[in-house]
Amino acid sequence: ALFKKTSKTVGLIVPDITNPFFPELVRAVEDVMNIYDYTVILCNSDEKVEKEREYIEVLKQKYVDGVILTTNQFAPEEVEEWDVPIVVLDRPLHERYPSVVADNYEGARLATRHLYEVGCRRIAHIQGPNHVVNAMERFRGYQDEMRALGLGDRQLVIQGNYQLKQAKEAVMAALAEHDMDGIFAGNDAMAVGALKAVQQCGLRVPDDIAIIGYDGIPLTEMTTPELSTVSQPIYEMGAMAARILIKQIEGKPLEKLHYQLPVQLVVRQSTSRRG
Ligand code: RIB
Repeated sequence: ALFKKTSKTVGLIVPDITNPFFPELVRAVEDVMNIYDYTVILCNSDEKVEKEREYIEVLKQKYVDGVILTTNQFAPEEVEEWDVPIVVLDRPLHERYPSVVADNYEGARLATRHLYEVGCRRIAHIQGPNHVVNAMERFRGYQDEMRALGLGDRQLVIQGNYQLKQAKEAVMAALAEHDMDGIFAGNDAMAVGALKAVQQCGLRVPDDIAIIGYDGIPLTEMTTPELSTVSQPIYEMGAMAARILIKQIEGKPLEKLHYQLPVQLVVRQSTSRRG
């Protein structure tokens, strides 16, 4: 096996530590790992699979006892070769690996329906990166809900990459060409970018355009207006993944392989208007 020795360390690969979703997740993994006397080696991949591969090499050299992956760009065969306990967190990789994710599809339906219920009829979706499974699940939820609401032909998709600044620019460009009265952003960072873009164009949130994000990071309570969001149980997801990894390392049986945690609609000022 490649990871024969034990080191009381585990690796955690995240795609973008500047996104406020990840610090909370990392914190949870670390808290649980510390209870069991493990140290966490944090690797930030910038969403690049090459960087993820390099980190895996480093983790092998350090004989980590297990790896938590929040990235989904590896081929399952590749992961198999590492021969080390793996837990997949937040972004599903392959059904053969234990996973902890939130209900991305249902969360997106909730957000879209909420915008409809407050009176929006031209609802745009800022989609996360195409290679990210949960972004595609949220996109699918948006599409299905729009169809279910009879708005199937009114869909408007703005391509985002889960980052605030890019989303702001993409929304500015979209506003110049399209009419919209609601925006469902695929994550909170992009919702903040959208808010800035809408306000910079002289439009009011929520009266002209209502905005809802996704994740439930504390930043959403700091904006004016405060942002509605679909909150994921971020800390619980990280803690659960860590506990599952410990069980695997200790060779204990897992009660089940896949955990999908529920999400919650959080209504704040950015969508508080009469339907
Ligand atoms: O904000 C970062 C996004 O990437 C989150 O929505 C999370 O689910 C992650 O995959």
